[in-house]
Amino acid sequence: MPTRYRKLSILSLFLVALSLVAAACGAEEPTGDCLAPVDGALVAAECVVPAGATAEPTPTASSSNGGTIDPGFTAFRASGCSGCHAIDGTSASGQLGPNLTYVAAKGGAEYIHESIVDPSAVIAQDCPSGPCSDGIMPKNYGTVLPAADIDAIVAYLAGL
Ligand code: HEC
Repeated sequence: MPTRYRKLSILSLFLVALSLVAAACGAEEPTGDCLAPVDGALVAAECVVPAGATAEPTPTASSSNGGTIDPGFTAFRASGCSGCHAIDGTSASGQLGPNLTYVAAKGGAEYIHESIVDPSAVIAQDCPSGPCSDGIMPKNYGTVLPAADIDAIVAYLAGL
C-alpha cells in the first residue's frame, strides 16, 4: 500500500483509540439520576452511569416511538423512579431498586402496574447491592401520581 494511505490508516487508528479512551473516561463520570440513603433519608446523589447507559436525560430515540421521547419515560423521570431504577440506554441510573430494562418479561403490564401501586405485593429478588428489601420503594404512588402518568409509565416499561 502506498505510504500516503498507510499514514492515513495509522492516523485513523489513532483517532479510534483516542475516542475509545474518551468514551472510557466519560463512563467514569458521576452523572445520571440517582438517590442515595444519607442519615436515613434519600437524597439526590451523583452516580456512575452503568455501561450501556447514556448521560443524556433522554432515552435514545427509537423507531418504535417515532424518534420522540416516550411520555412514559418523561413521567418515569418526573416521578423520581430514575433515582432508584436504572434503564439501559437512558439517563435512568438509580441503584437502589432493580434495573427495569427487562421487567416486562416478569409478568407484563399487569405485574408492572401492581409493582408501582403496591410494591410490597411481590418483592423483587435482585437489587444492585444484593437481595431487594421491602420498604424502600414508596408505597403511595397509587394515590400521589395521576393515573395517566402511571398508565404511561406502565406502557413504557412493558414496551421496553
Ligand atoms: C426510593 C427508591 C425507589 C423509588 C423512588 C422507586 N422504586 Fe421501584 N423499587 C424499588 C425497590 C427497592 C424495589 C424492589 C423491592 C420491591 O419489589 O418492592 C422496587 C421494585 C420495582 C418494580 C418491580 C421490579 C421487579 O424486578 O420485579 C417496579 C416495576 C418498580 N419498582 C417501578 C418503579 C416506578 C415506576 C417508580 C416510580 C413511579 C419507582 N419504582 C420508584 C425502589 C424504588
